[in-house]
Amino acid sequence: MKLIKLCNIKDLEEGKIKSIDIENLHLIAILKDNKVYVFDGYCTHEDADLANGFLLEDVIICPLHLSQFNVYTGEVMNPPAEKPLKKYNSLVKDSEVYIEIDK
Ligand code: FES
Repeated sequence: MKLIKLCNIKDLEEGKIKSIDIENLHLIAILKDNKVYVFDGYCTHEDADLANGFLLEDVIICPLHLSQFNVYTGEVMNPPAEKPLKKYNSLVKDSEVYIEIDK
């Protein structure tokens, strides 16, 4: 595991999906209730870019076929996707957001 700096917490807007490309990863980060949730940025159905998706209360909605994923866990809430989004553990220290990646 390796800890990498993702962004500053001020770069995130509560309830909005933020697209972040780092270390050859395309990620989405979401600030919700003062916590940061980070996932792979591509839908597990047909790789649509979830940065172009929507956040509706507790679900991330894919812009292509409208699969829904739980914003806290990445679990699938609605098909056609069947696999959950990969979630990255995050932590905030001195206003900087870090995530753990496999490396
Ligand atoms: S690509 Fe996301 S639901 Fe099909």
